[in-house]
Amino acid sequence: MVITIDGPAGAGKSTVSKALAEKLGYLYLDTGSLYRALAYKVLKHNISVDNESAVADLCSRTEVELKNVGGKMKVYLDSENVGEKIRTQEVGSAASKISAYGTVRQYLLNLQRRAGEQGGIVAEGRDMGSVVFPDADYKFYLDANADERITRRLNELLSKGTASEYESVQKEMIARDQQDSKRQHSPLKVPEEAIIIDSTDLSVEQVVNVILKYILTK
Ligand code: DC
Repeated sequence: MVITIDGPAGAGKSTVSKALAEKLGYLYLDTGSLYRALAYKVLKHNISVDNESAVADLCSRTEVELKNVGGKMKVYLDSENVGEKIRTQEVGSAASKISAYGTVRQYLLNLQRRAGEQGGIVAEGRDMGSVVFPDADYKFYLDANADERITRRLNELLSKGTASEYESVQKEMIARDQQDSKRQHSPLKVPEEAIIIDSTDLSVEQVVNVILKYILTK
């Protein structure tokens, strides 16, 4: 079975997808980490995220791989496990910028589809149900109001030892929402037939239960 979870930044997709995959004994596919890995290399090479041809050129000299390590998908960039290095705000913003380029999306498309070939996967991102896995068994779209998404992101950053200002996270999130939903290639949208879940007032466990209930009864 392929289950897709799409939604904007800070809606709780990662936490929910991870918990759901664990409950079902499925693999969790975090597709944002693939865009982040590429963005990390772009920044490391001091290439401007606005320079599409330079980004595309770098892409052609890059190997992004997904490896199943003890039942968990890990992202490898040119054979290096990039782990937590790609989890910064800076890399997230750069990932959002370069993910608008058709060449970048095309480059990562097959990789994502191959990961889903065997089934038994919870795939999380922006275009999972609309483009990457249009025939998924279950499609969900997770959302939450802006204030809640900002607060969650602030707490997440704090838990990693980075105290940030509400206003700066808000600014970054508004820019990211705009970029991800207004781009030409595979914009963030509610996939056809997707179940929309508003997680604003729900705990992670409650969201997972809503999803499980749906899967078990439909
Ligand atoms: O989910 P995330 O914050 O790790 O994603 C980082 C960026 O990657 C996001 O702002 C847009 C891009 N992305 C995408 O375009 N398509 C996906 N399926 C996943 C992420």
